[in-house]
Amino acid sequence: MQPEQPERPDQSDSTRSEPAANKTESDNIETSGRSAFELLSDNPAERLPKVRQLVDAFYDEMDFNRQFKLIRDLHPRDLTDSREKFFKFLSGWLGGPDLYIREYGHPRLRMRHMPFPIASVERDQWLSCMAHALKVCEIEPGFAEKLLVSFFKTADFMRNRPDTR
Ligand code: HEM
Repeated sequence: MQPEQPERPDQSDSTRSEPAANKTESDNIETSGRSAFELLSDNPAERLPKVRQLVDAFYDEMDFNRQFKLIRDLHPRDLTDSREKFFKFLSGWLGGPDLYIREYGHPRLRMRHMPFPIASVERDQWLSCMAHALKVCEIEPGFAEKLLVSFFKTADFMRNRPDTR
């Protein structure tokens, strides 16, 4: 008799269910009723600019650090739209204004990432860019760590190719 095989999710199955549109993976970061967005700054006027700064630091790292060429090459040459969409998305994902959903509807992130080959190496490059951005933006290390755990979950959900390297 064959030993039972551990269950392996079919990573190329585009029907793997997407979380609800308004479900923020960063929910678990909430501390004493304050969302991750609120925790970015005590001054409400500084929160959206902080998200913008984070997005810019993230794409600058992807763009200028040759170490991340693999995922840089998946993106358009001009990153202006990528920056704008990710800024709008991140605002809502952190628990701030749902700018992306208001404009584009449900993000369907997994489905939207299907055309791009994403295995563990791409996921890890993406997370390295984000870890760098959190440092550059001087996000408090404990808070940054929690954010990275949430980003990992979303990035891992985006994997759609088996690891061959
Ligand atoms: C796991 C590694 C990832 C890779 C390689 C990757 C790559 C890409 C690429 C190539 C695009 C299309 C070009 C563009 O619009 O810039 C894109 C779009 C996008 N990505 Fe990712 N991504 C990853 C993870 C994530 C994660 C974890 C998030 C959210 C936390 C995210 C959010 C988005 C958003 C909001 C868009 C725009 C979707 C739209 O077209 O409306 N991505 N990504």
